[in-house]
Amino acid sequence: MRRTQKKLIIPVCLTMAGMLAAATSYAQTVTIPVETQNNALVLQTDGDKNLKMVYFGHKLGNAKEYESILGMYKQADDSGVLNDAYMPSGSASLAEPAITVTHADGNKSLNLVYVSHTVTKIDDDISLLTVNLKDPAYPFEVTLYYKTYFKEDVTEQWSVIKHNEKGVVTLNKFASANLNLKGNGFWLKQYHGNWALEMQPEEAKLTHGIKTIDSKLGTRANLYEPSMFMVSMDQPATEDEGKVMLGALEWSGNFKIDLELDVSNNLRVIAGMNNAASEYHLKPGEDFTTPAFVYTYSDHGKGDASRKLQRWARKYKIVDGEGDRLTLLNNWETTYFDFNEAKLADLMKDTKKLGVDMFLLDDGWFGNSHPRNGDNAGLGDWQENKQKLPNGISSLVKEATANGVKFGIWIEPEMVNPTSDLYVKHPDWVIKQPNRPEKYFRNQLVLDLANPQVQDFVYGVVDNLFTKNPTLAYIKWDCNAVIYNAYSAYLKKDQSHLYIEYVRGLYKVLERVRAKYPKVPLMLCSGGGGRVDYGALKYFTEFWPSDNTEPLERVFIQWEYSFFYPAMTSSNHVTDWGKQPLKFRTDVAMMGKLGFDIVVGRLSENDLAYVHGALKSYDYLKDAIWHGDQYRLQSPWDNDAASIMYVNDSKTKAVMFNYLVNNRYGTGTKVPIRLKGLDPQKKYQVKEINLYPGNNSSIGNNLAFTGDFLMNVGINPDVNSGRTSVVIQLDEAK
Ligand code: DGJ
Repeated sequence: MRRTQKKLIIPVCLTMAGMLAAATSYAQTVTIPVETQNNALVLQTDGDKNLKMVYFGHKLGNAKEYESILGMYKQADDSGVLNDAYMPSGSASLAEPAITVTHADGNKSLNLVYVSHTVTKIDDDISLLTVNLKDPAYPFEVTLYYKTYFKEDVTEQWSVIKHNEKGVVTLNKFASANLNLKGNGFWLKQYHGNWALEMQPEEAKLTHGIKTIDSKLGTRANLYEPSMFMVSMDQPATEDEGKVMLGALEWSGNFKIDLELDVSNNLRVIAGMNNAASEYHLKPGEDFTTPAFVYTYSDHGKGDASRKLQRWARKYKIVDGEGDRLTLLNNWETTYFDFNEAKLADLMKDTKKLGVDMFLLDDGWFGNSHPRNGDNAGLGDWQENKQKLPNGISSLVKEATANGVKFGIWIEPEMVNPTSDLYVKHPDWVIKQPNRPEKYFRNQLVLDLANPQVQDFVYGVVDNLFTKNPTLAYIKWDCNAVIYNAYSAYLKKDQSHLYIEYVRGLYKVLERVRAKYPKVPLMLCSGGGGRVDYGALKYFTEFWPSDNTEPLERVFIQWEYSFFYPAMTSSNHVTDWGKQPLKFRTDVAMMGKLGFDIVVGRLSENDLAYVHGALKSYDYLKDAIWHGDQYRLQSPWDNDAASIMYVNDSKTKAVMFNYLVNNRYGTGTKVPIRLKGLDPQKKYQVKEINLYPGNNSSIGNNLAFTGDFLMNVGINPDVNSGRTSVVIQLDEAK
């Protein structure tokens, strides 16, 4: 029997700046709508003060009506055990838990009841809701945090766990968030991959039981699957239609996302750090903070949801998300480890000749007793190799400056080759089992970032480079190995903390780097896209999506990343992978942060003229590509041609990229492609750009159409086997 309940409703966004604290008495229902511009997530207590999540979707016009939601459901779960806002375990809650603990006395039961909540309005856009829960039987508390970005419709959710028991409590599971979704069926889009095969999508209807996306790799955690995913409700969402939630864990280590379709046909999404081999011993009075799970929701399809996430990332998460980026020439694929000062001097001249901002020196510049002439030695010994670079990095920086370009450098400071001085000097800094044979990934082992001395060392690698070379303009931070044989000499009895303390140690280092060098561009690389997540991207300006730069492949890879990350974070390099012409390769790389890794000397005069023209266009359009809205117009998965466009904020400038992705006879764009995001009232001049010297556009000259026409009829880029990549620029006609 339910008690008669008094009702109290407190909408998060309506509360006054930094003030509301509501404590309630027993048998009073508290309803807490967590609202953003378009959406709401609603929490509500039941008669026993258990906190439930009762709604997730489009926000209601009348917040009072949130109270009536639950009454409309007559599902099998009368006992109410399935919709906890943060499911404990071992007591009355019996579904997959968000949290499992072993109390100091060995008892494994946990119950969490609502105590109070507070809303703090951080600014016009951001609010922070905290909800305090406690166990009535033990001095054990969990605080749930919901940080909402009103305009962007984005929420970051995490939890803080603490206790005052008489001894250590073991946390066996510790999710960041536990969402309950209602719908007439749920479709999960997830990703799998491997080296050079990142972001391979799969979408399927969820069946009853638990589907798990996880990683146990420690470092390079996304190698086989990343934590990003989307869930469509009622039917599979398309680009512009349907209800869809996009989510990702802001964590660069092991993660676990459980999607449980329960007996009542509701979906529970439990996201957090992976608890596998990671039980955590929490001392009395200590806080255990979980990483944020970031999510957004749209009832206008995946495109709208992804633009929300992209806007949020640019404004609030990535470093300098509203700033500039550097174009560059990288030497990795043109020299690999085989270079010297003379070769690099030529490459810096080439950088200038190509017309990009910076030269990026990749792997192979360090190690003396064990020179880094291959991937089997030298990692850890961060001194310039005297044979290759007798005058050191500083002379290279000078050389770059003399050529009028900037200089950037590659490091992989978390790793060590057993063939290195560092390994011999500090065997206790290396993650490896004392009583088992070493197992290598790319001939290397991982340094133990749980150890503060190792943190100092890794920070020192970065700090030394900048201290010695104050004009150093850029760092590419790589991370190629996974953690095998997880054991930390530093952590001693707390071995199960290693996976967590490693990532915390990494973030401590990155915090220090950013405290001293707040804006310097850093590229997040992990043998390709092995570590693309918002936990790390908080410290980086961009990421390396994949070592696979074959441009056809890249159309697909970049397409999928773009659901979660803004174009300006995607470092796209023109390389010699594949058989596509230079124009195709460059056009594809322009859909993000453009770079090159090619032998400039091998470019013909026409090639060079084409690149110069493309760079000029890029300079003109980069504001729309980097800071504007992206629209995926036509998917490469279902069409002969893929089409993507970017529009600047004032809708005065746009660019549309089109690529042939099918080589069968007679394929091409037979019908116009409808544009999106333009102003229907504005008239746009439409012209093809990035034409290879000697080629004329087949779409015509002096074209001008209204946004209305372009969005309802569209434009045919005339992609065909003779025109495999077509870039179209749109400017408001003045
Ligand atoms: C892996 C990266 O993904 C590549 O771009 C390159 O930097 C190599 N490492 C260097 O070893």
